[in-house]
Amino acid sequence: MSGGGAVLVTGGAGYVGPPAARALAASGRPVVVLDDFSTGHREHVRWGSLVEGDIADEALVTETIRTHGVTAILHFAAKALVGESVRDPDLYDRWNRGKTTVLAGVAAREGIGAIVFSSTCAVYGNPDVVPIDENESKKPINPYGASKVACEEALFATGIPVAALRYFNAAGAEPEHGLGERHDPETHLIPLALRALRTGEPITVLGTDYPTPDGTCVRDYIHVSDLASAHVLALDRLERGDGGGAWNLGTGTGASVRDVLEAVGRVAGRPVPAVEGPRRDGDPPSLVACADRVRRDLGWTPVTSDLDRIVSDAAAYEEGVHA
Ligand SMILES: NC(=O)c1ccc[n+]([C@@H]2O[C@H](COP(=O)([O-])OP(=O)(O)OC[C@H]3O[C@@H](n4cnc5c(N)ncnc54)[C@H](O)[C@@H]3O)[C@@H](O)[C@H]2O)c1
Repeated sequence: MSGGGAVLVTGGAGYVGPPAARALAASGRPVVVLDDFSTGHREHVRWGSLVEGDIADEALVTETIRTHGVTAILHFAAKALVGESVRDPDLYDRWNRGKTTVLAGVAAREGIGAIVFSSTCAVYGNPDVVPIDENESKKPINPYGASKVACEEALFATGIPVAALRYFNAAGAEPEHGLGERHDPETHLIPLALRALRTGEPITVLGTDYPTPDGTCVRDYIHVSDLASAHVLALDRLERGDGGGAWNLGTGTGASVRDVLEAVGRVAGRPVPAVEGPRRDGDPPSLVACADRVRRDLGWTPVTSDLDRIVSDAAAYEEGVHA
């Protein structure tokens, strides 16, 4: 049991980290963001202090922990583009597994009491059973997923209580806080659909012959505010001494590509221009979480993950960015 000190939020300038930093700060915890801005945005760092640098800079991380009285870490920092990982697997091994291993070593030496880690449903690869529960075997089908399995292992090996939160599809935004999704390149469906509406350039539906109800891929979309609240609950659990583990973070409800495009069209009041294209390599037909464990162990309930709410928040954020 530990806790009460400051929380180091690695990658707190990206997409998913800042809402969690906001939620932590709202719960009364001092926050220190550590980010190298390789893909982050300075304007997303609005809660707590900022330390600019690399999670694998041992001297910097050690000094940050000591100076700020850090007792726990939320670890978001990573490279997270599946396509890039396929093109350059070594980069993902070095960057994700390698740097997380260094961070884990410093955390253990400095007596950190809890780590909440951003894992992913990509650790399961092509699951045998959907909805996917945490006992599904880990058979990642791309180097990104493999690097996240290796990160989980490196973190669990420290003996520090670790919560590996395996997110399904992070989506939505917190427009009221100026937070949302701006990846470069953007590969996520909702921002791409909003871009298609803005530019008139049609989005390509990648595969319409999957064994799913409408032939397009089905995913489990979870709002970043719901992800944020799960991080606070996971940290509470670890600091209470109730033990770590792996938890899926999804709603348990799937939406197909066509469902999402319809929702974007409904929210915008006009249809998304779209064309049909072939399947993309490595896309499993359906990835939907069994979310029983997270509901039971963390007492977590999704509040904002309704698809129309996700889309309207993402659209409001985009409007702000392009105003
Ligand atoms: N977005 C999703 O749908 C999704 C789904 C599952 C898991 N995840 C995981 O969630 C985490 C956050 O994803 P995101 O979408 O916010 O990505 P992101 O690229 O927006 O954010 C990553 C942040 O980490 C920082 N960073 C990267 N490497 C760093 C390093 N070595 N040192 C310091 N800072 C570094 C970047 O500058 C950026 O601010 C990642 O670990 C990702 O694997 C995301």
